[in-house]
Amino acid sequence: MSRLTVRPAARLAGEAAAPGDKSITHRAILLAALAEGPTVIRRYLPADDCLRSLAAIEALGVAVKREDAQLRIEGKGPEALREPAGLLDLGNSGTSLRLLTGLLAAQPFISILTGDASLRRRPMRRLIEPLRQMGAELFAWGGGERAPVVVHGRRPLRAIHAVLPVASAQLKSALLLAGLGAEGDTEITEPARSRDHTERMLPQFGAALKIQGPRVGVTGPQRLRGARIDVPADLSSAAFVLVAATVVPSAQVRLPAVGVNPTRTGLLDILSAMGAKIDVANRREQSGEPVADLTARPASLRGVTVGGEQIVAMIDEFPILCVAAAMAEGETVIRDAQELRVKESDRIAVMAAELRKFGVAVDELPDGVRIAGGAPLRGAVASSHGDHRVAMALAVAGLAAKGETVIEDTACIETSFPGFAGLLQRLGADIVETGAA
Ligand code: S3P
Repeated sequence: MSRLTVRPAARLAGEAAAPGDKSITHRAILLAALAEGPTVIRRYLPADDCLRSLAAIEALGVAVKREDAQLRIEGKGPEALREPAGLLDLGNSGTSLRLLTGLLAAQPFISILTGDASLRRRPMRRLIEPLRQMGAELFAWGGGERAPVVVHGRRPLRAIHAVLPVASAQLKSALLLAGLGAEGDTEITEPARSRDHTERMLPQFGAALKIQGPRVGVTGPQRLRGARIDVPADLSSAAFVLVAATVVPSAQVRLPAVGVNPTRTGLLDILSAMGAKIDVANRREQSGEPVADLTARPASLRGVTVGGEQIVAMIDEFPILCVAAAMAEGETVIRDAQELRVKESDRIAVMAAELRKFGVAVDELPDGVRIAGGAPLRGAVASSHGDHRVAMALAVAGLAAKGETVIEDTACIETSFPGFAGLLQRLGADIVETGAA
């Protein structure tokens, strides 16, 4: 089993290219499969999660060429998609599972979607129900709750107005993909605005959308045309490096061209309220997405209270925020984050248990954590529980702890951040990966 051995870092310095944005790479791959004409995706994320989406569209009959740091996808429109010959195995990727279920609901054949043990525990009913109302037939394990999911799609679907029970970009995007193949106006209302990458990317493929506050609408059927997408670096991956550079005594790390979509920048706002020194420079736009160059320097952090709508804009940054909170003077309370219990792991329970191994005082709350920060962390043997973001967050804790830290079960990092340990090594960290396949 692969593991990371981490020793305290005195210094982190240099420039590093964070990997391409995972959410944006998935969307570009899936929209390209529906489009007519070639799509070129530059600086895509070649990590296991996105490669699952790519393998799925290939199984649906779409031709893909991998050219250096870019993908070329030859879309021939939705009618050219074919019933896959086998199961679509989406590994650990919740975004692949949810978005493909929506896309396939509008294709008139049978697809079966499944994944690893973690993916097969994640909620699907909240997506299956609206897709059934749209006229697709779907069946799922656990009385309709979990993958494997069988989708018997229909074209055209019926347009609906869906009111989502949770703010979820995966749900919203899946219904938008289904809505492209529905007759009439599909509308989706969220309790709060989740990441809007699908809304920003659809116009790049020639589609029209209506957006009014937390409500987004698409009139179908609509056809897409191939596009050229430049993928920014992923802020959710950059986050680990930014926090590392904040808590290591001597550091200056620059990360160019990182996505700073305001639906994703919750962590930057929270870190700034905690006293972090992260400079956001040279803001510009790339394929409809805001990007900027980020520079982080060491800072003394103070505890903070986080909750309500702040959670949606930092949903994937909870594990690394817990590490920043452990390093901050005073108490940090994170509430309204119950959705974290159904991510790649139960991130609330797992982060509470693992940080305690570093000597951090953590109370687990039903919807978050209370962390008493500021005491020195001591190196520990900790586990990722198979969750990539937990693995990377705990590695950053190891950089700031006294003595050696071992993080077990770290192969999962490949799902979103290939080369994580190597990137930190090049910046000067003492982090060694062993047992990798
Ligand atoms: C994602 C949406 C988020 C996030 C996930 C990626 C996406 O999930 O946690 O890592 O690409 O749409 P939800 O919006 O479903 O909470």
